[in-house]
Amino acid sequence: MSISTCQVLVTKRPARALYATSALIKSLSLKPGKTVRISFGKAETTVTLRSVKKSGSKLYVPLNIKNQLLLPHIGTFKVKSSNGSLRIGPLFGIMTTANPSATSPFGTRTSLIRQFVASGSQAGTCFAFAPKNIDWATRSVTGYFYSPGKGWYRRKAPLPDVIYNRMPSRKTEKSANLVSLKYRLTHAGIPLFNWSFFEKWDIYRLLEPAGEAYKHVPQSILNPSPRQLKGMLDNHDFVYLKPTGGSLGKGIYRLTYKPHKGYFVRYRLSGRNRVLRFAKFSGLARMIGIDKGRLRNYVAQQGIRLLEIDGCPIDFRFHLIKNIRGRWTVAGIGCKKAGKGSVTTHVRTGGQLLTPGQALGRIYSASRAQDLLDKAKAVSIQLAEAIERESSHPVGELGFDLGIDKDGRIWMFEANAKPGRSIYKHPALKNEGRATLKLLFDYCTYLSGFNGGDA
Ligand SMILES: Nc1ncnc2c1ncn2[C@@H]1O[C@H](COP(=O)(O)OP(=O)(O)O)[C@@H](O)[C@H]1O
Ligand SMILES: [Mg+2]
Repeated sequence: MSISTCQVLVTKRPARALYATSALIKSLSLKPGKTVRISFGKAETTVTLRSVKKSGSKLYVPLNIKNQLLLPHIGTFKVKSSNGSLRIGPLFGIMTTANPSATSPFGTRTSLIRQFVASGSQAGTCFAFAPKNIDWATRSVTGYFYSPGKGWYRRKAPLPDVIYNRMPSRKTEKSANLVSLKYRLTHAGIPLFNWSFFEKWDIYRLLEPAGEAYKHVPQSILNPSPRQLKGMLDNHDFVYLKPTGGSLGKGIYRLTYKPHKGYFVRYRLSGRNRVLRFAKFSGLARMIGIDKGRLRNYVAQQGIRLLEIDGCPIDFRFHLIKNIRGRWTVAGIGCKKAGKGSVTTHVRTGGQLLTPGQALGRIYSASRAQDLLDKAKAVSIQLAEAIERESSHPVGELGFDLGIDKDGRIWMFEANAKPGRSIYKHPALKNEGRATLKLLFDYCTYLSGFNGGDA
């Protein structure tokens, strides 16, 4: 097996043959005159390999073969040879939803998808596509390609080597159509990550057998009964109520019981933070509608007293991506400080982005801050490995919401399967943000087998 980089060009020479320069033949240990299988993404054909007396590392492809392979453009590609077959690639697909607009085909997510496609195009050939863009009859996809000069343009391409799943809607993701499409793609031999959104409860439950990692999950109950909720309020300083399939802090309540004072509930409604007090648990229970089934699919969770800056809790986003060897790495860390009176740290509810060093440096000495960060990094990798071990589909990227309490214990509130990139808006984290994009496509390269390993 060997991998090389070459220029792929079109030739008018007779079809049914590929023409490789001697430099390329040598670097790939090829044997001219032999019949080889050539593929690009999942398109393939058989040709005779011939040598051509030209300089440099070049591969000349007759037009009809270029068409058969659905090569969207000519230029620099990696070529891999193993067991008498040649692969041009790698070809990456970003799966998402699209609308037909030429300038912003992915609506408000266009700039995010453009970042992915632009980075993927540095590591190989990359396009974005919607499930409806796949034509199974020809096993092709009409993808959205991007170049800084041309902007977005559409081209037909084969099914890709790897799919990075960025379907944005939890509802669509669960639909029978999409689930069967994902299985169909997997059965076509295409690694697809990340499989789907996580639900909070699924992750907590999945970690239960994981031993060590489970120690970082606060005590949680799905669909608590009034008695269970009251019990939790007696046992913990405060309790979070969170929709298991929620995000962005929507629908979250923070409940507290203070002896002699009563029950307090904090939440956000119509853009404002609210606090209500009830003398009795029954008043609180009525307000949150626990008897009326309004808390169906909610998790009640032990509240963690987080580290604070200026009297506001802070927590951390740990963005993990697998590297070119398929191993977990902490790609980026952001710190979020809650807005005054907010029950979550989200920026949209008044939260503020900080670098982890800045934040912890305001509480601890530099060395203690570094120790805590190192500890949290180790925990995040342990959690990622445990989640992966217990999942039935490949996981390549995770975003953890982690908290650190006043005793230095690390807690996990949430694992995101499709983490946003908002922490990288912080000026000091922009470079890290760029590096994460490279890492992501290193991992895609690993999955495609173009990393020089045995895959
Ligand atoms: N058990 C908890 N104890 C303390 N704070 C919590 C707890 N659960 C959530 N939070 C706070 O609320 C934020 C949002 O919770 P999270 O579980 O990430 O839900 P969402 O999906 O809405 O982001 C967290 O980042 C954290 O600041
Ligand atoms: Mg969260």
